[in-house]
Amino acid sequence: MTFENLTIGLIGGGNMARALVRGLLHAGHPAGRIQVADPDPAQLEQVVALHAGLGIHAENREVARTADVLVLAVKPQLMAGVAQQLAAGPRRAGQLILSVAAGITLDSLRGWFGAATPLVRVMPNQPATIGAGISGLAASASVGEAERQVAQYVASSTGQAVWLQDESLMDAVTAVSGSGPAYFYLLMEHMERAAVELGLPAELAAALTRETALGAARLVIETKAEPGRLRAAVTSPGGTTAAALRVFEAAKLDAIVRQALAAARDRSAELGRAPAGK
Ligand SMILES: NC(=O)c1ccc[n+]([C@@H]2O[C@H](COP(=O)([O-])OP(=O)(O)OC[C@H]3O[C@@H](n4cnc5c(N)ncnc54)[C@H](OP(=O)(O)O)[C@@H]3O)[C@@H](O)[C@H]2O)c1
Repeated sequence: MTFENLTIGLIGGGNMARALVRGLLHAGHPAGRIQVADPDPAQLEQVVALHAGLGIHAENREVARTADVLVLAVKPQLMAGVAQQLAAGPRRAGQLILSVAAGITLDSLRGWFGAATPLVRVMPNQPATIGAGISGLAASASVGEAERQVAQYVASSTGQAVWLQDESLMDAVTAVSGSGPAYFYLLMEHMERAAVELGLPAELAAALTRETALGAARLVIETKAEPGRLRAAVTSPGGTTAAALRVFEAAKLDAIVRQALAAARDRSAELGRAPAGK
């Protein structure tokens, strides 16, 4: 299937929409086949700064009318109003709808657009903005194989895209990869602060911490080694790493991480249960 001929429309021109536009352009999608709607001229200015050939519109209906794939990229609390307006207006026949809004369920989307509309829910994460994201995808029953491939094409423009058999796993995905970048930032913040307290200049503390985070992540990915095996390999008995790891263990880091992820998962489920758009 050639995806380049598809007109991809984005509703909302904010951070996630721009990440998708950047990714699609990078993947070679023609700028003229990407249309973005946002009522805010300042946001559209930022969109068009990515490529002068992109289609920009102040009215959502202008994009919905022509898009083969419509990506809903507004804040979750605005989704009900935006979706109802789109559902009532002109839309291209057979249009595939992708929603990237956190906590907006396929059930809510079906309620607005109808059960026959092909709907895919996508949970991206912040590194999507540099093409290093990972997204979880869940499809409604009305989505066929060809439409899955289209959704995969759009979502993978910002990094990896993985399908979930069951939408209920989306809350766990949100807890791991959706909120996950913040956990690693927090650890980096604490390491940088502690490094300064050990006497390192702030700039050096930052460089050492950030390059170490990047190097560790790359080593895990590139060697496909289990993190535990790499940890064991770098931990000599009675050595410095062992001394630090004993502190983490005594503070029950494993239990803390488990509780934190469960809290994020529960909050995601709670948001999904709230009346749509609340
Ligand atoms: N950023 C992330 O890392 C991330 C990760 C996972 C999921 N998401 C999801 O992605 C969605 C967008 O998030 P974001 O970070 O890109 O937010 P954002 O930067 O605030 O973008 C949303 C855009 O939608 C515009 N908008 C508001 N009302 C609209 C309407 N009626 N029609 C069309 N556009 C409208 C907003 O304009 P104004 O500026 O005028 O309000 C803004 O430009 C959210 O649902 C979020 O849950 C984001």
